[in-house]
Amino acid sequence: MAGHERFRFKSQAAFLEKIHELGLDIPFSQDIDILFEKIRIAGKTLSNRLAAHPMEGSDAEAGGAPGELTFRKYRRIAEGGSGLIWFEATAVTEAGKSKDRQLWLSKSSLDGFKRLVEKTRSAACGSTGSKSGPLLILQLTHSGRFSKRSGILAPVLVQRSPILDPMQKISSDSQLVRDEDLDAIQEAFVSAAGLAAEAGFDGVDIKACHGYLVSELLAARTRPDSKYGGPFENRSRFILETSRKIRAALPEMILTSRLSAYDAVPFPHGFGVDRNDCQKEDLDEPKTLIQQLTEIGVPLINISIGIPSHNAHFGRPFDKPVPGASLPDEHPLMGIDRLLRITGRLQQGFPALPVVGTGYSWLRHFFPNVAAAVIKAGKGSIIGVGRESLAYPDFARELAESGGLDPKKVCITCSGCSGLLRSAGPVGCIVRDKSIYRIG
Ligand SMILES: Cc1cc2nc3c(=O)[nH]c(=O)nc-3n(C[C@H](O)[C@H](O)[C@H](O)COP(=O)(O)O)c2cc1C
Repeated sequence: MAGHERFRFKSQAAFLEKIHELGLDIPFSQDIDILFEKIRIAGKTLSNRLAAHPMEGSDAEAGGAPGELTFRKYRRIAEGGSGLIWFEATAVTEAGKSKDRQLWLSKSSLDGFKRLVEKTRSAACGSTGSKSGPLLILQLTHSGRFSKRSGILAPVLVQRSPILDPMQKISSDSQLVRDEDLDAIQEAFVSAAGLAAEAGFDGVDIKACHGYLVSELLAARTRPDSKYGGPFENRSRFILETSRKIRAALPEMILTSRLSAYDAVPFPHGFGVDRNDCQKEDLDEPKTLIQQLTEIGVPLINISIGIPSHNAHFGRPFDKPVPGASLPDEHPLMGIDRLLRITGRLQQGFPALPVVGTGYSWLRHFFPNVAAAVIKAGKGSIIGVGRESLAYPDFARELAESGGLDPKKVCITCSGCSGLLRSAGPVGCIVRDKSIYRIG
């Protein structure tokens, strides 16, 4: 396997040569016009194929309403011109927060979310002149085994995991969450979706990625004696029932999910994983799930992979790891190749379903060329960036205006934002926005 290397390409030719040398299937297009083609989702038109991915900021007010830095972040992103803004992980219950200052949508914080939607829309329209503005999706979450209270782990466990329990120092006698409690959490998702509609979001995402509650439920083969554990029918019950309830209660709302299609946790504790080799994906169950979600009326899917605290390089290839973590023994381009392959297979399995792709920030100023080539190849419909949206929030507008990105403004995948999130925020770019965000 080709070991880790930092991004240090002096030219496009050197970049393409490395892809060739590694034998990877990362496409590249000089012509990026396709990124500015409109796309319709559930009757709404997006003005381009670029998205800002959810980036948890840990900058809420004490009651969960957006704080000053939350408003600043979304204003800058809205002014930046992406067609889709996918708002960060927002807890549906207080006990489901992963950080004290994570956004939490409740009746008490609703007014703050209404203001956030209003201000985001007006910043977008003021800056881009677009009447409709970007599509605004709110990610709803319960942090499951990563839930914390006052900075102390307070895990809501759906199954024991020989990989994640020791990593999180979860004792072997910790109780699993009861089915009745999961039923109540499901109702909290449905109520929060109603509040999101009142706040003015176009859609909600039932977050099913990165090892948080709903994604871990999809992997809960070993959960004993439970309607939410064991066979796929039970493991998918939570997300499917929640989706059906939201669909019935809010027929106008766009309903979507950010799904970790493959978490790379060894079978039987992982999802989308080959039963003999956790380094390989097996997309049969993710495909069945996506099919079922589309039948419920899900018009958009966002694909991610991995669990950040277990295998961060799977979901967000980087130059530098967070302090204290070691470098993976894998070239970041191999991580990108994996993300593109998995997303591409799912998009090709569902050609009529717009799929949002992930994992482009490491590519720096080459990301638009790869993004355009991926869409042209039918391996994605919308391309989202996470860390780039903090470093370079106006990337979409600059790309539209000048046809390229400024290498001096791009994200350098230093994991500074991840480090800030680990220390419970607030989260932003310590390189390109350093007057606001610093480590320590
Ligand atoms: C600091 C930080 C916060 C994140 N917060 C979220 C989140 O709230 N929800 C989510 O689905 N993914 C979250 N992610 C993952 C990103 O959305 C994205 O998938 C990842 O960074 C890879 O995309 P990129 O290479 O463009 O950064 C976060 C990542 C980072 C580094």
